[in-house]
Amino acid sequence: MCGIVGYVGPQQAEGVVIEGLRRMEYRGYDSAGVALVHDGEIAWDKRAGKLANLDKSLGDQPLPKATTGLGHTRWATHGAPNDVNAHPHLGATGRVALVHNGIIENFAPLRAELERAGHELRSETDTEIAAHLVEAAVTEGHSLTEAMRQVCRRLDGAFTLVAIDAHDPDRVVAARRNSPLVVGVGEGENFVASDVAAFIEHTRDALELGQDQVVTITREGVEVVDFDGNPAEGKPYHVDWDLSAAEKGGYDWFMRKEIHEQPNAIADSMLGRHDEQGALQLDELRISEDELRGVDKIIIVGCGTAFYAGLVAKYAIEHWTRIPCEVELSHEFRYRDPILTRDTLVVAISQSGETADTLMAIRHAREQRAKVLAICNTNGSTIPRESDAVIYTHAGPEIGVASTKGFMTQLVACYLLGLYLAQVRGTRWGDEIAAVVRELEQMPGHVQSLLDRGDEVLALAENLADARSVLFLGRHAGFPVALEGALKLKELAYIHAEGFAAGELKHGPIALVEKDVPVFCIVPPQGRDFLHDKMVSGIQEVRARGARTIVLAEEGDDDVAPYADVMVRLPKVPTLLQPMVAVVPLQLFACELATRMGHDVDQPRNLAKSVTVE
Ligand code: AGP
Repeated sequence: MCGIVGYVGPQQAEGVVIEGLRRMEYRGYDSAGVALVHDGEIAWDKRAGKLANLDKSLGDQPLPKATTGLGHTRWATHGAPNDVNAHPHLGATGRVALVHNGIIENFAPLRAELERAGHELRSETDTEIAAHLVEAAVTEGHSLTEAMRQVCRRLDGAFTLVAIDAHDPDRVVAARRNSPLVVGVGEGENFVASDVAAFIEHTRDALELGQDQVVTITREGVEVVDFDGNPAEGKPYHVDWDLSAAEKGGYDWFMRKEIHEQPNAIADSMLGRHDEQGALQLDELRISEDELRGVDKIIIVGCGTAFYAGLVAKYAIEHWTRIPCEVELSHEFRYRDPILTRDTLVVAISQSGETADTLMAIRHAREQRAKVLAICNTNGSTIPRESDAVIYTHAGPEIGVASTKGFMTQLVACYLLGLYLAQVRGTRWGDEIAAVVRELEQMPGHVQSLLDRGDEVLALAENLADARSVLFLGRHAGFPVALEGALKLKELAYIHAEGFAAGELKHGPIALVEKDVPVFCIVPPQGRDFLHDKMVSGIQEVRARGARTIVLAEEGDDDVAPYADVMVRLPKVPTLLQPMVAVVPLQLFACELATRMGHDVDQPRNLAKSVTVE
């Protein structure tokens, strides 16, 4: 998720823009840039790394004074984080500067069209094609507003675009589709930004924009049109958040904000990865189909939550591809002298891409000539750089130490990998793969429905605030969810919590169960009845010993209701995909309980967001 600021008014634009970007540093980014309109030209600078790098460059080579400009902090999706890929991007003649947040799904055909027309594209980004297209339109004589509107109609995907035109110093033009953009309305000055934190020190009067709208700001005012050119209105509101709340989008914690970002994160992680027929296209995979057809074993490595995502992936990948799939803790993997050959595919799951244990594991795998594929949320980080191939999750920066949308999008990436392998190896028919893709496309809505009903779970946190130990039970793909639910409680509420495979209870753990011990039970969908009935038996076992059962079961599953002290309903989804919905109530519960206990939910004690030591 990038940070964007646009400004027009009496102040020096560079200062306003840079300060606005600084207010959004919390979002996480890997490069930054600024562009100004000065004396019929665009003056710009952009640098990989933190704002300090840009500040130094601007200090060494100051830009001219200007009162119209834009700025950007980039969270890389397409193209490594470096000076060339940093935003802003300019059109062919440098007349238009443009910045972007989101993913332009159809950038490849548009890039080809521009190159056929003689355009020289200097970066690896999807953004640059938009800069060239907008500049081509203004060069034909269209206003910047009209040019933006015409270009937006050609783009697929999720995007916020902001542009300036060297020949039109009095305006900044922006547009949005499925990506944040807000207008700050000042006195004789106006702002556009990806969130209000960028301008609330100047004005707290804002305009909320609708889908598929183009906004033009000048000193005198704000004009909005839709992508068809019809006049539209932004919805005025007053920002009463303080800066800290503004950085979290009004939520109390980054973690809670990130839990609520999951529907968009899932949708973004699906963007551009399948065609209308549901056939998959993982263009950044960089392992040939022949090599993938030769894979005879998969070993998934990861730590913590990433490891649990790998455990879920095992069920799906083995079912769809019939390839043996092992899942290992990274820090155990290389010390157990694993059997690796050129036909082994090692899949390294890591949100940060910097976890030392996982990095060491893939180095060992590559020394043994195995192929390595990274599933990672951080473009250009060490693990994908040292892998043969990568599937980037598009969750956006995850600030909270406890992983939520990172886990959710790791699941999406693992499912896409399994389906792609099945497609390439022919172990699943196209219609079977397309059916699963359609189910994945429904997931943002399913997760949103759980978030909308989150109050049920929040109330549960109040009732269980005094618990000293909590157990989590699951079967099949629900077992890793039980482990993840327990980890969230451990790392946030500092409560002893343990996840079990429900079938394991009678082999010892049931001795832990006594009166009122809270036990979360994740019940498989009824579609797989032998699993479902076994899970019901496990719930009866713990209930018979006095446990307080919190049962997560799909809508309409009444068989399990008699054994539930608390029932949390899940949307009906296929068994292999149920982890995506079952984990949400557990995330909300852990976040709420830790909040009620007065803990720092975003920075839990003893923990770091990325464990870069072994
Ligand atoms: C999960 O909430 C924790 N933050 C931790 O277990 C984390 O998942 C683990 O350290 C792996 O981190 P990575 O995904 O960045 O490699």
